[in-house]
Amino acid sequence: MKKRILSGMQPTNRLHLGNYLGALKNWVKMQDEDYECLYCVVDLHAITMPYEADGLARSTREIAAAYIAAGVDPKRSIIFPQSAVNTHAQFNWLLSTMTQVGKLDRMTQFKDKGGANREKVGLGLYAYPVLMAADILTYKATHVPVGDDQKQHLELAREIARTFNHRYKTEFFPEPLTVITEQGTRVMSLTDGTAKMSKSDPSDNSRINLTDDADTIAKKIRKAKSDPNPFPTSAAEMEGRPEVQNLITIYSALSGEKPQAIMDRFGGGQFSPFKEALAEVTVAGMTPIATRFRELLADTTEIDKILKDGADKANAIAQPILKDAMELMGFWHA
Ligand code: TRP
Repeated sequence: MKKRILSGMQPTNRLHLGNYLGALKNWVKMQDEDYECLYCVVDLHAITMPYEADGLARSTREIAAAYIAAGVDPKRSIIFPQSAVNTHAQFNWLLSTMTQVGKLDRMTQFKDKGGANREKVGLGLYAYPVLMAADILTYKATHVPVGDDQKQHLELAREIARTFNHRYKTEFFPEPLTVITEQGTRVMSLTDGTAKMSKSDPSDNSRINLTDDADTIAKKIRKAKSDPNPFPTSAAEMEGRPEVQNLITIYSALSGEKPQAIMDRFGGGQFSPFKEALAEVTVAGMTPIATRFRELLADTTEIDKILKDGADKANAIAQPILKDAMELMGFWHA
């Protein structure tokens, strides 16, 4: 069976360096491997939290534009909005009948997002992981690249696939494998090396946004937290210095240079020459992406066409799978 990748990001906010190095760069690389790649913008998931209706379509285009600007190639990968393929929502219902609420109760993301006010939380937020399983299974995806925080959701998707296969005595769904992005690309906040770089951090200095210009990037890197000790010369000297480790990780991921080579060059000295070099590497890596991103959004004709084509291709894969699944479940069909 052909290896098929499915992944997605929510159109809720702007993307940053962490999304690029942690996810998108990996998605781009997977296009060169032996996979069929589907990358969706999960707009149905985005409405599980309060949102602005008049900004949703724009955010959807923005996330798709970010995929493409980062190097996802619409000729080789299928890029589409989740809401444009109705089988996601249909599978969400079908699979909800195979999901135990006890399992949903244990989802840590739901506990975090739902907070203390459990009685008032929407059913959609609770069912979020079922919709995610539907996203994956409606394509019979075999591999799902996600961050660490989504591992639990993926495990549930695998259980749902197993339950379906067991209940309908079939091998219909492959159990989707989690592809965890390498440790090396986990990007932390520039102001706190123990917290992930995040769009929800109140301080804009904690992250490099996809749309930051060169001056802003350089300024943020110069301000980034380091420590009073000299620049490390070895992995041992990085121990217990999360901020330093993070800056070296970013440098390495963007330049392709090994951390040790970076330490050989800057080790023992002050941080300022390293930071200048890091600013340069970051600007060189991010500016072309920001430029392409802006071009794509200046006129939405191209991006809308890409999303429409992507939705057509995704539908062509997903509709027959839904039909077959419903047949296995015993529904009437002509
Ligand atoms: N829940 C994922 C996140 O927040 C996004 C997502 C939705 C997703 N559906 C998916 C990721 C299917 C991979 C596969 O990051």
